[in-house]
Amino acid sequence: MSDHAILFTPFTLGATTFHNRWVMPAMQRGMCKDGSPTPELAAYYARRAQGGTALMIGESAAVDHPSATVQPTSAHINAAARDGWARCVDEVREAGGEMMLQLWHEGAMRSDGQALSASGLAHPGKESGRAATLDELAEIRDGFVRSAVIAQEIGACGVEVHAAHGYFLDQFLWHGSNIRDDGYGGPDITHRARFPAEIVAAIRAECGPDFVISLRFSQWKEVDYEAKVAPSPEDLATMARMFRDAGVDVLHASTRRFWESEWEGDNRNLAGWTKAGGDGLPVITVGSVGLDTDVMDVFMKSIDPKPRVEVAIDDLAARMAAGEFDMVAVGRALIGDPDFVKKVAAGDYASIRTFKRDDLGKLEWDLSIVEEAHANA
Ligand SMILES: Cc1cc2nc3c(=O)[nH]c(=O)nc-3n(C[C@H](O)[C@H](O)[C@H](O)COP(=O)(O)O)c2cc1C
Repeated sequence: MSDHAILFTPFTLGATTFHNRWVMPAMQRGMCKDGSPTPELAAYYARRAQGGTALMIGESAAVDHPSATVQPTSAHINAAARDGWARCVDEVREAGGEMMLQLWHEGAMRSDGQALSASGLAHPGKESGRAATLDELAEIRDGFVRSAVIAQEIGACGVEVHAAHGYFLDQFLWHGSNIRDDGYGGPDITHRARFPAEIVAAIRAECGPDFVISLRFSQWKEVDYEAKVAPSPEDLATMARMFRDAGVDVLHASTRRFWESEWEGDNRNLAGWTKAGGDGLPVITVGSVGLDTDVMDVFMKSIDPKPRVEVAIDDLAARMAAGEFDMVAVGRALIGDPDFVKKVAAGDYASIRTFKRDDLGKLEWDLSIVEEAHANA
């Protein structure tokens, strides 16, 4: 086996075998109409599957609850969006890939004052809307389940529960945005992880054992790059085991740069620590694969990244061989070049087209809370 061959071996989660280890993570692309994916979005996903990526994760889609989002360009997963998502799943499969849908709720990142969240806080000191009651949490949980059932019915191989980057479920995980004292918040990670774990368990109970459930989490938030959901490896392990016990098949450990070690004195990144802490539960890594500049510097400073491919592929293969993680998600580099994976397989790095900020066009979503947090930092 060549040094890189491990990146091109099949991998199984639930009842689905992916033909290689490459994943396109959820990325909102502004190609939905009234919350439903357009044919253009389906073609975009299918093109990446054709280019060698085994698993496509649909862009964050608001779950079936009225509090989930008011962003006009965001996707939804509800009865009205069902056919649009079914087209995406079908076209990806025809192109040789598999698709999961990402279940999202923006919580206190919603800036209209109507947000429901863990504690009515987008981050410490930033009030936004109010804390959801226990009855409202049960309704939102049921909204996640209804959306997961739609994903299953249209043939998606699974769903990814979005609990990252400072949105609703991450607002539960982070002590900075969760000061509840009802067993769902506060200083103890088992309390903060309880509601996300209950959502996973409810989806698992409804969708059965074969359906893949990923949970995406991050230490960093769009509003605070230095934040830590799990301040210690012990907390991370506790959280990973809670999610495993609730029924996740894979944890997607989101970082801005995959090559950075999570805790000093050890080279492993967040995915590596998560895999060890979760007793080998599969893990996806992500963060600036193929590029030298992270996603937030592109968003906030409009920087055009430079390519950083060969060193990244060597590093990813070595880390995967060492058991740090099982799959690799590639975001912007796959926007830049849909054939990124095929070209890496062929060792044809020189022909990879490098992603540019302009590839994203005009960002239509409301980043006001993020911008304010950085202006005040
Ligand atoms: C345009 C754009 C939209 C994004 N939308 C989402 C999203 O809907 N859900 C999510 O979990 N992450 C989202 N992200 C983050 C990506 O999934 C990914 O974690 C990030 O871009 C880092 O990967 P990269 O460095 O390979 O681009 C988005 C990123 C970009 C560039």
